[in-house]
Amino acid sequence: MAQKTLLKGRVLSFSGSPFEGEPVDATQISEAVLIEDGRFAAVGTSADLSAAHPDAQVTDYGDHLIMAGFIDPHVHYPQTAMIASWGKRLIDWLNTYTFPEEMKFGDPDYAVEIANRYLNLTAAHGTTTMCSFCTIHPESVEAFFTAAQARGQRVVAGKTCMDRNAPDGLRDTAQTAYDQSKVLLQKWHGVDRISYAITPRFSPTSTPEQLEAMGALWAENPDCLMQTHLSEQTDEIEWVRSLFPDARDYLDTYEQFGLLGAHGLYGHVIHLEPRERDRLREVDAALIHCPTSNTFIGSGLFDMNGLVLDGHRVGLATDTGGGSSFSMLRTMAAAYEIGQLRGRPLHPAQLLWLGTVGSARTLRMDDCIGNIAHGMEADLVVLDLASTPAISQREAHADDLWEAIFPTIMMGDDRAIADVWIGGRRVAI
Ligand code: GUN
Ligand code: ZN
Repeated sequence: MAQKTLLKGRVLSFSGSPFEGEPVDATQISEAVLIEDGRFAAVGTSADLSAAHPDAQVTDYGDHLIMAGFIDPHVHYPQTAMIASWGKRLIDWLNTYTFPEEMKFGDPDYAVEIANRYLNLTAAHGTTTMCSFCTIHPESVEAFFTAAQARGQRVVAGKTCMDRNAPDGLRDTAQTAYDQSKVLLQKWHGVDRISYAITPRFSPTSTPEQLEAMGALWAENPDCLMQTHLSEQTDEIEWVRSLFPDARDYLDTYEQFGLLGAHGLYGHVIHLEPRERDRLREVDAALIHCPTSNTFIGSGLFDMNGLVLDGHRVGLATDTGGGSSFSMLRTMAAAYEIGQLRGRPLHPAQLLWLGTVGSARTLRMDDCIGNIAHGMEADLVVLDLASTPAISQREAHADDLWEAIFPTIMMGDDRAIADVWIGGRRVAI
């Protein structure tokens, strides 16, 4: 008979979007959740589930918050070792810190070491799924998928394609980018919990020929995601304009090559033109907010309120290592602060939703991950809402659950992560 696991605590799930109506009305708190065969089998009262499943193995988490594992839909796992590099803006930061580090991934042993280091660090921070850029080296993709597969983790990743404006040793060509991406896609896409994302880095590092080849590959594999960067810094936008003088705007450098679509994920999207906003909305593309990166690299303030009100599909991501943290809690705190700077404080329910359901929606995976509901895959995080003396003394006099959760969002980190379960199995963190 299948192993049953019963987890008790304060189980948070979402019944709708906290951006529609009162945020709290979209949430539900239950006493227990049952896991069977790697999926959530039931949510309910502790008494009911205990009585119905006397054979289940029980873990009682007391006052801890049990919720879906965090989902980080825009990361660069190869940038793990150079996170928090000082003093540069985007293009200089890429040339000074990022490209030299990514060069090292030609060595498969190094790729394996960093893939495992990254997955250990992110598990310790409560992140159970991510969508990662790799490097131009197919070995970097192999290393990441192999490590994730061994952990039973749902991940998305792809070979980062670049055929210009990158140093020697870190460029492919239009043809090799197409061929290598296709081999990796055919080998890995849909294997266990792994998905392939077609990954042109951004317009400045791809020739029109390469963007066209990526567009062709996506047209041949329309159920794959496609990930890239869009409109992150004003200097970058100027550069794109000079490289593509005939394009209507930055988005058009993707659109004209078939790289705009519902399964497209566009990172940063800060300085959008009205036409770009409209087109992204029309095709229901995914916009990924990377708040710690946008402040760390000095990129700008994402318009969360305006974009959500317009009906855009928005997720929340670390952008490790342009982002300054592996923690989705730190990322939520940064999203809150940017919301404040734009005159709109996000409710804690909205922040937790963005880092789970919202991000799952951007990956088109909200039918299987990002929430605690019957039949969904059992990836979860257990949050200690009093993980440090500073948080604990604030939480101690909270008037309600949301006031108890907010200090952990604003001040929490990996110390708040009491436990992590992936695919119904407890993970050592
Ligand atoms: N734009 C192109 N590549 C990158 C990257 O690695 N990080 C960030 N933040 N922006 C990019
Ligand atoms: Zn990025």
